[in-house]
Amino acid sequence: MMEKTFLMVKPDGVQRELIGEIVSRFEKKGFHLVGAKLMSVSKELAEQHYGEHKERPFFGELVDFITSSPVFAMVWQGENVIATARQMMGSTNPKDAAPGTIRGDFGVTVGKNIIHGSDSPESAEREIGLFFKEEELVEYTKLINNWIY
Ligand code: PPS
Repeated sequence: MMEKTFLMVKPDGVQRELIGEIVSRFEKKGFHLVGAKLMSVSKELAEQHYGEHKERPFFGELVDFITSSPVFAMVWQGENVIATARQMMGSTNPKDAAPGTIRGDFGVTVGKNIIHGSDSPESAEREIGLFFKEEELVEYTKLINNWIY
């Protein structure tokens, strides 16, 4: 099923110069980048994005962290991209993330786990809408897709 997902290199990933590495992994997998931008996250946007976690003890820490330095926001398209991107990211806590996953290879603690990815079609639609205007998403054809699908 062709889907879109929202992925975000978090402030620690940007500061550690992992944007290129992370984009490269999703490109090499065969997914299709349809939107991307380096941006600062406002407190309002952070609170909306992480709204479902507002009762959790780490909510304040999460908002402070995501607003502390720029993020690299992306929209990727492909068959089953939502679930596959989550597998490629690895477990939320890097200590449980398998080697070969982004968090398994680059993360150490749950508070600085490098990347965010939508966990369902509903959250993908909501998060894409929060971070991107419709005109910021680009529809285009890549001939290489004929060799992936
Ligand atoms: S998940 O992947 O949504 O099931 O993970 P969850 O455990 O529900 O965590 C939700 C987001 O909170 C982050 N998180 C934390 N931040 C700081 N400190 C602690 N202890 C902590 N535990 C979880 C976690 O990385 C999730 O953020 P995102 O950006 O969605 O990965």
